[in-house]
Amino acid sequence: MTSDDDGLAQRELVRRGYDELAETYAAEREGNENDALLDRLRSDAPPGRVLDAGCGDGTSALSPLAGERPVAGLDFSREQATRANEVAPGRVVQGDMTALPFADGTFAAVGAFYSIIHVPAGETPTVYEEFARVLSPGGVALVTTGTEGWAGRNDDWLAGGAPMEWDILGLDRSTGLLEAAGFTVYETVGVVDGLGQDGKTSRLVAADSDEAEKLFIFARLES
Ligand SMILES: C[S@@+](CC[C@H](N)C(=O)[O-])C[C@H]1O[C@@H](n2cnc3c(N)ncnc32)[C@H](O)[C@@H]1O
Repeated sequence: MTSDDDGLAQRELVRRGYDELAETYAAEREGNENDALLDRLRSDAPPGRVLDAGCGDGTSALSPLAGERPVAGLDFSREQATRANEVAPGRVVQGDMTALPFADGTFAAVGAFYSIIHVPAGETPTVYEEFARVLSPGGVALVTTGTEGWAGRNDDWLAGGAPMEWDILGLDRSTGLLEAAGFTVYETVGVVDGLGQDGKTSRLVAADSDEAEKLFIFARLES
């Protein structure tokens, strides 16, 4: 198999996994830490439309933003996109972050909460180029990565009976790719990820905290 084939296989596995695990993921994702991140996104982004890229069922970011700003949600899982369309009717498309079905310069912000961590490394530069293309100058991207790089698979993710794969680039590689796409990274926030861990709730911590497991990167598209 070529690395292109590997990337396609990974994408298909992730897409199918989020179809099959929609109920399980929704139950585990309850009580997330997005509020403070969304507040920051609201205050940092210029006025205008916000894209939630890899929006899942829409409860984490699309729904809270939809009452305040024009929004669009995008997810390549049919099940997730269908669910998200219930919280933001008519504003969700089933599509892939590597080829966004939106015109150039039409968003003030793109949030990608825990979604780019599933994109094969070879396709991540394209995703950041796509974010830069659809943002207007000065627009803000908020993306998740790991404190370290890690790629791997769980054959029974969240004990839901379906496999899942990740390709997490870590801060340094993510920063390099964002800069290559025209962004300046201006803030990182750490998160202790409680998903799928009994009794542990996700919470934000300093990016350099020993507790941080993943990072949210805020980056601004150069004007
Ligand atoms: C961990 S979930 C996060 C969902 C939501 N953002 C949240 O914070 O709960 C990752 C989502 O990204 C979507 N996703 C992964 N790769 C994608 C891609 N290449 N294009 C579009 N959606 C993708 C998955 O289908 C899934 O719904």
